[in-house]
Amino acid sequence: MPLSDNAAPARYPLAIIGAGALGLHFAARLADVLRVAVIGRDAEHAARLRAGVEVGGQRYCADAFAAAQPPRADWVIVLVKAGDTTAAATIAERMQPLGVLSLQNGLTGDLLRAHCRAPRVDQGITTEGAYRERTAAGERVQPSGAGETLLPPGFEPVAQILAQAGLHARIEPDIARARLAKLLVNVAINPLAALYRVPNGALLEPPYREALDTLVREAWPVLHAEGLALDLDAALARVHAVATATAANRASMLQDVLAGRRTEIDAITGALLQMGARQGRALPTHAAIHRQIKALEPPAAA
Ligand SMILES: NC(=O)c1ccc[n+]([C@@H]2O[C@H](COP(=O)([O-])OP(=O)(O)OC[C@H]3O[C@@H](n4cnc5c(N)ncnc54)[C@H](OP(=O)(O)O)[C@@H]3O)[C@@H](O)[C@H]2O)c1
Repeated sequence: MPLSDNAAPARYPLAIIGAGALGLHFAARLADVLRVAVIGRDAEHAARLRAGVEVGGQRYCADAFAAAQPPRADWVIVLVKAGDTTAAATIAERMQPLGVLSLQNGLTGDLLRAHCRAPRVDQGITTEGAYRERTAAGERVQPSGAGETLLPPGFEPVAQILAQAGLHARIEPDIARARLAKLLVNVAINPLAALYRVPNGALLEPPYREALDTLVREAWPVLHAEGLALDLDAALARVHAVATATAANRASMLQDVLAGRRTEIDAITGALLQMGARQGRALPTHAAIHRQIKALEPPAAA
């Protein structure tokens, strides 16, 4: 149970699974407008979150719970890394929610649906940003730029809550296309930045630019056949625009590789490769990059 002054409600209006960079960024903002349950990895993590964590320069004491004892909640947002999606789906189902929304990178909706039988389970996208930093006192979360959050139809109450908290959020009627557009950017920028260990902007210059454009050209027919509403020139322009706008950033996959963590390559490039296999289209450059990133990951836990 949380150690908050106010007793925990029998049912929270909203919960977030994944108390990392983005989860705590969202939770701290949303806590200004309603009670938010934050699900930490274990009891020790939950205790640290209840004691308070610095988020965007403010101390945030979360209504935190261990993953083994989640409270009931109407709506659940999943913000664990893609490799932890199955565990998060199981936790979410135990919360007996009306709906579960992933805002993760990569395509995780099918996996979430396979392990969680809530009435609505779907995936939106967000360009909100945040990162975790080690400090002498432990850890803090820093927002790294306001973005936009697009939610699938059926998640209107969640969109309304996000907007009340001052976040830029709306329902996107064609969320599948929006996810494909984000996947296009992720399959091009994320693995290359991680492989060459460069900030996003460097990918626009030689010697990386050729590889970046090759990845876009190879991915485009597959994503277009799935419903991506961009022609090839627009797809290239979209990826270049994101690399320019985030020129100084270190992509999350690069951060994962540098920290010796698993990456989200399976939910990103792996998802593209699965689409290609379904369509009978070869994606040799993406397949090679997938293998190279997998080789950089630590061995899976037994
Ligand atoms: N950060 C951003 O700017 C950003 C922007 C857009 C999208 N995203 C996406 O959002 C997702 C989350 O990213 P992030 O940067 O916030 O990652 P993160 O900082 O690593 O946070 C993930 C959190 O989930 C926890 N977790 C893992 N498995 C769990 C489980 N079974 N039960 C409870 N908690 C669990 C992790 O605990 P441990 O630390 O113990 O593993 C960690 O606290 C990713 O898909 C990412 O691609 C992030």
